[in-house]
Amino acid sequence: MSNTNYALVASQLRQALGDETDALANAANFIAVLNNALDDVNWLGLYLLRGDELVLGPFQGLAAVARIAMGEGVCGTAAATRQTQRVPDVHAFPGHIACDVASRSELVVPLVLDGALIGVLDIDSPSLDRFSAADQHGVEALCAEFLSVLEERGSAI
Ligand code: SME
Repeated sequence: MSNTNYALVASQLRQALGDETDALANAANFIAVLNNALDDVNWLGLYLLRGDELVLGPFQGLAAVARIAMGEGVCGTAAATRQTQRVPDVHAFPGHIACDVASRSELVVPLVLDGALIGVLDIDSPSLDRFSAADQHGVEALCAEFLSVLEERGSAI
C-alpha cells in the first residue's frame, strides 16, 4: 500500500526539470525524483527504444540487463502492447526478466510521444503487490508530465 502524494511529486518534478532542454538530463532528474518519492522500490529506470529493441537508460538500482527485445519480459510486453503492466507477483509473469533477484512486483509504463513509442519506465519493488491502481495512475500522470516537457522542448531522447 502506498500513500505517495503524486501531486506533490509532480511539483517536485517540475522544479527539478526547471527550464532545462537537454532530454537526457531531464530523464536523469525524472528518475531521481521518482526514486526519491517512492518507498519500497529497489530498481527504477528507463529503457529507451533504439531501433527495434529497448536499451537501458538512466536508472537507480543494481546494474541491469542492457537490452530487451520487444515483447520480452514485462518491459517488452509494455512496449509491444503500449499498455501499462502492473504485475503483483513477477514470479507469476511468464517470461519475466530478473535483473535484481529481490524484485517481487513491478510496474512498467509505456512512454508514447506524438504517437510514437520512445521507451518504458520500469519500477521494481521487493514487496509483493506493491503497486496499487492509484500508484499506476499517479505514475502514469508523472510520465505524461515528463513526456509533455520533452514535447514542448523539442528534445528527442
Ligand atoms: N524485469 C524486467 C527487466 C528489467 S529489470 O527489472 C531492471 C522485465 O521483465 O522486463
